[in-house]
Amino acid sequence: MSGTGRAEGKIAMVTGGASGIGKACALRLAEQGARVRILDRNAEAGAKAAEELGAGVSFAALEVQDEDAWRAAVAAVVAELGGLHILVNAAGIYMRGPEHNPETATLEDWRAIHGVNVEGVFLGCKHAIPAMRDSGGGSIINISSVAGLRASAHAAAYGASKGGVRQFSKSVAHHCARRGYGIRCNSIHPGSIDTPMGQHAMLGVAATVEEGRERYRKGIPLKEIGEPDDIAYAVLYLASDESKYVTGQELAVDGGVMMA
Ligand SMILES: NC(=O)c1ccc[n+]([C@@H]2O[C@H](COP(=O)([O-])OP(=O)(O)OC[C@H]3O[C@@H](n4cnc5c(N)ncnc54)[C@H](O)[C@@H]3O)[C@@H](O)[C@H]2O)c1
Repeated sequence: MSGTGRAEGKIAMVTGGASGIGKACALRLAEQGARVRILDRNAEAGAKAAEELGAGVSFAALEVQDEDAWRAAVAAVVAELGGLHILVNAAGIYMRGPEHNPETATLEDWRAIHGVNVEGVFLGCKHAIPAMRDSGGGSIINISSVAGLRASAHAAAYGASKGGVRQFSKSVAHHCARRGYGIRCNSIHPGSIDTPMGQHAMLGVAATVEEGRERYRKGIPLKEIGEPDDIAYAVLYLASDESKYVTGQELAVDGGVMMA
């Protein structure tokens, strides 16, 4: 990647930043000058990630379903780092398998998935908006999925949750534009990405991760599994002022899966 300072002077919160896509986002934003607060419910992995990513990256534990915890997390970032300009909502959970079809999916699983994937994103946006407005504007990037754009019989709740993230992102974009807050909001729709969650998905279709990877590859036009950085660089663009005229959009980063 060319250029440095693409996020210079900006303050960012990244949920799910202890692992996979969120961690890569934290790294790329920090590398380009942002001060980043990783938020994750996995305190051990979160603290380790912040230490590994170095200066400019800090960690605080956050359960994204807890509204009071969100209030406190945003207030702490504003007080300690001096404002808020970027929110990346990457925390998420995944469930897929024959039992997760619309006929046999359990209400318990449905609520668990929506609690993290949709309510977590709702609460993050809700509490970040006033802080970003008071900081002079900003950019919210919600990590949805290709599962939020096309149907899968075996991931009914997950797909519905990611469709919810897609549509809610547009509501946020519309609201903030109408109010003149200077806040943009877009969703990113990853395809198959090589993270712990991605590998868990691969194990759902084969006996080993490597076999699963091969099977997934065959269905991808570019014939490659994505890397966390493929998403992080898209996030960096949407987080930076380079995308100042882009809001309410959905960007698939998926090796071409959604092109057909
Ligand atoms: N990996 C893929 O193939 C893929 C594809 C499409 C979309 N996504 C989406 O990308 C996002 C990141 O996924 P990933 O692959 O990096 O997964 P991951 O499992 O590697 O990381 C997810 C992180 O979110 C955290 N988290 C989960 N629930 C939380 C909660 N309730 N509160 C706070 N933190 C919580 C976990 O502790 C973990 O650190 C998710 O929203 C996922 O749905 C991933």
